[in-house]
Amino acid sequence: MSVKIAPSILSADFAELGAGVEAIATADYVHFDVMDGCFVPNISIGIPVLQSIRKRTALPIDVHLMIVQPERYVDQFCDAGADLVTCHVEADTPENTLEAIRRIRACGKKPAVCVKPKTPAEAVLPYLELVDLILVMTVEPGFGGQSFMADMMPKVSQICRYIDARNPACELEVDGGVNAQTARLCTAAGANVLVAGSAFFK
Ligand code: DX5
Ligand code: ZN
Repeated sequence: MSVKIAPSILSADFAELGAGVEAIATADYVHFDVMDGCFVPNISIGIPVLQSIRKRTALPIDVHLMIVQPERYVDQFCDAGADLVTCHVEADTPENTLEAIRRIRACGKKPAVCVKPKTPAEAVLPYLELVDLILVMTVEPGFGGQSFMADMMPKVSQICRYIDARNPACELEVDGGVNAQTARLCTAAGANVLVAGSAFFK
């Protein structure tokens, strides 16, 4: 499987975001990190910024929702221009996560789920056949520029095996501390989409 690059604009200069997005025109996705100061201890960008970014790029926008109860907002992010919307499995009940996935699909967009470092691989199983991408965090979510957690690689490999067995079209993304060196570990473990924030913009 070919490897895709998803630069995270969290590490771009927010006063020059249009230029930042245009600078990554050869990437495969634009990774858009949404933080609510509750699910993670940081606040970033949201729906109005997504609407503005949408006008400046033809690339698919990969929206990573680090917010509690994301089901409340998935329709608005789809309407604002997301192509793929990722919800954390830790952010709500399984019932509400399933509802979020259903709503994203009903909007004609791609649903995805994400697991934090302490969440086991098995947590993705209820969603495996329903999503287009699974995201494995390789740092604790909340901030760019953290060190890559190589001990997440067995989890990436485990989820890769689930995908091969039950939903081979599903993509497998990693996020956090990915650079030219750690990218090799990720692809060896089976990831095919690499998010890179500081390695790309700094
Ligand atoms: C962290 C975000 C990441 C972040 C990655 O919570 O989800 O997407 O931008 O930044 P780097 O690549 O610098 O670790
Ligand atoms: Zn992210």
